Amino acid sequence: MEDSILISVPGFSQLSFRKKGSGPVLLLLHGFPEDGRLWDEVAPQLQENFTVIVPDLPGSGGSALPDSTLTVEKMAEAILAILKHEGISQAVIAGHSMGGYAALAFADRYPEMLKGLSLVHSTGTADTEEKKEQRRKSAALIRKEGGKEAFVKQMVPGLFASLFQQRYPAAVGKQIDRANEQNAESLASFQEAMALRPDRTHVIKESKVPVGWMLGKDDTTIPLEKVIGQVSQSETSFLHIYTDCGHMAMLEAPQKLSKDLLNFAAYCYNR
Ligand code: MLT
Repeated sequence: MEDSILISVPGFSQLSFRKKGSGPVLLLLHGFPEDGRLWDEVAPQLQENFTVIVPDLPGSGGSALPDSTLTVEKMAEAILAILKHEGISQAVIAGHSMGGYAALAFADRYPEMLKGLSLVHSTGTADTEEKKEQRRKSAALIRKEGGKEAFVKQMVPGLFASLFQQRYPAAVGKQIDRANEQNAESLASFQEAMALRPDRTHVIKESKVPVGWMLGKDDTTIPLEKVIGQVSQSETSFLHIYTDCGHMAMLEAPQKLSKDLLNFAAYCYNR
């Protein structure tokens, strides 16, 4: 993207991110199979109050896969490299789904750099054995000729609530097209990285900073009932449940999500 900043640091031949606005830092991490553009309807509403940094996680958008195996810990290292490059010592991080897994890895490793953690349709738990097996199969399919397109076509619509799918087929189609822009090796590597991630519910329990949960009532990827028990585990937490919303509040409920992120980040910096 034309307004992206590109950097090259040890371990990462190319990392791409966008930085806009001014004030304290709010970093927005996209999920799978997306890139930083996922936040396009939300970021502009946060930029008046915050310096908003939106990376493409390694392997997506303008960021290359890392030099070694992709893991959520590598994603955290990429975030660290971007913050260091910009001379930033602390940030509120909001991570959508896989971006939340990366944010939790960051919180685990570099807690002193975190002012607040928002988990947007995400969870601290690891995959079940069944889910890990499903991801291995998905990675194998994606690496086959035509497999990426088949996987994306089957997977992406289910990220949205069924009413949204019916009402906004073009918005769903746009996400399918964007997912297909990613290379197969990246999509397969993301699946494997997610399967490898450990349980990080201890990060939520031990968090010294507020944890803001943004969840969708109709989310079938991260079902509400599977995460709701984690919400009360940290010292300070906020919970927003979006009705008529699946796994994609940035597109299904962008106004509400923007307002809630704005209030959450302001609370983190002002408490
Ligand atoms: C995502 O939205 O980032 C992924 O679908 C999350 C997952 O597969 O666990």
